[in-house]
Amino acid sequence: MSKKILVIHGPNLDQLGKREIDVYGQTTLKDIDQALEEKAKFLGVEIKAVQLSGEGEICKEVGSAKENGFAAILINPAAYTHYSVAVRDAVVGAQLPTVEVHLSNIYAREEFRHKSVIAPVATGQISGFGLNSYLLGLEAVVNLIS
Ligand code: DQA
Repeated sequence: MSKKILVIHGPNLDQLGKREIDVYGQTTLKDIDQALEEKAKFLGVEIKAVQLSGEGEICKEVGSAKENGFAAILINPAAYTHYSVAVRDAVVGAQLPTVEVHLSNIYAREEFRHKSVIAPVATGQISGFGLNSYLLGLEAVVNLIS
């Protein structure tokens, strides 16, 4: 049976395509999920992608990932990246390989975005490649569980 990877898109990522086009481009969340589906097929894994706006919802999903049969997590925590100790604690508790991704290069933006409270407890972080951040992230998690 193929391994399952949980993909979590944080708050406001449902607005991609119409939100800050100068930063995020015209790619929509649907485009990202379609590209991930194709890549997952190619890599021989299964993905479940969810967009969650609430911090608590993300914590619940991350916290139950293992018991729900997921082998790894790919997450764009969006704004929570920069301050959510709750999401960070959930990632620690999940005890699963976790890759953090960002469409934009958070280190080239406002200073408050330079810090990720999640990255130190994630397996790694990929930032700044647009839709490709997700595809590279998927490749990275698949490597971790293969
Ligand atoms: C983001 C970067 C965050 O700073 C921002 O709050 C987002 C998107 C990205 O993918 O580049 O919502 O995570």
